[in-house]
Amino acid sequence: MSRPAGLLEHAGQAVGWTPLVEIQRLGKGLPGRVAVKLEYFSPGASIKDRPALAIIEAAERAGVLRKGQRIVEKTSGNMGAGLAWACAIKGYRFTAVLSVGNTPERSQMIKAFGAEVVKVRQAPGAKPGQVSKEDLDLVEAETQKRVKKYKAFRPDQFNNPGSVWAHRFGTGPEIWEQTAGRVTHFCSFAGSSGTLIGTAQALKERYAGVRVIAVEPAQAPFLAGKPVRDTRHAIQGGGYAVEPGIYDRSVVDAYLTVTDAEAKRTARALAAREGIMGGYSTGANVAAALMLARKAPRGSLIVTVACDSGLKYLSTGLYPA
Ligand SMILES: Cc1ncc(COP(=O)(O)O)c(C=O)c1O
Repeated sequence: MSRPAGLLEHAGQAVGWTPLVEIQRLGKGLPGRVAVKLEYFSPGASIKDRPALAIIEAAERAGVLRKGQRIVEKTSGNMGAGLAWACAIKGYRFTAVLSVGNTPERSQMIKAFGAEVVKVRQAPGAKPGQVSKEDLDLVEAETQKRVKKYKAFRPDQFNNPGSVWAHRFGTGPEIWEQTAGRVTHFCSFAGSSGTLIGTAQALKERYAGVRVIAVEPAQAPFLAGKPVRDTRHAIQGGGYAVEPGIYDRSVVDAYLTVTDAEAKRTARALAAREGIMGGYSTGANVAAALMLARKAPRGSLIVTVACDSGLKYLSTGLYPA
């Protein structure tokens, strides 16, 4: 694989080969080094452009997505933006079903790419900016209704192996090449778990000793098999206390948790001190990577991802107004 060079024919070719940046200030003095892959460099400003395009192209090849057919998906917003972007390039109609708890920036982006947005009310007791498992169940029910109504193709990101392949054949090999094979740890917050599992598979295929760590919200360490207190948290895009169909336990070595406050504090420090302005899950990932760097053997190289841009959270108070 190689970076595309020269003039690109369309924005679909602008996915992948995102920068990998070492955070030398936040990581100063720690035995392990930390590097962050900046997925907000993608055209839809998140890591989900990769699986969105991979799933659509796989469905086209398999003949399960017909020309002009509508695509409908449940999303926390980033997959919605990724699919809306891919559909804009490829000429499909797209409907994104999401919770009103997801930030308005996400719906605005999806609409900008020419797609339809269906907003689903939150479960009783929910707070805007926090999407719980109960909220996601309501989104799922509405998605199923719309898929039937439109006879639509459903990417089904939590169960579609394309969510994994995008990272197994993209993110993972890129990290391997960008670190010249020196990566020792990879940690990632999990939604569909495609990022975590696909990257883990790629890295472990190249060096079985790479340690892979799943990052979860402090109150919902579900994948770790620990008690879930509450699935309401600020780290949008995952931590739903569900095991996705594509989850592959065999490539995960350990689990770490991060509080909302740690995610927020780290996202702010990352922006102010490293010039990397991500969202809450980016803060969670980097907080976890720094925890690992404190305990790792000297010379370790811990890699994680900036899943999306902080610009998608301007309405949440993640960054002061
Ligand atoms: C902001 C954000 N962070 C993290 C994730 C998790 O990525 P994955 O679905 O690959 O587990 C998502 C997924 O939608 C997301 O939107």
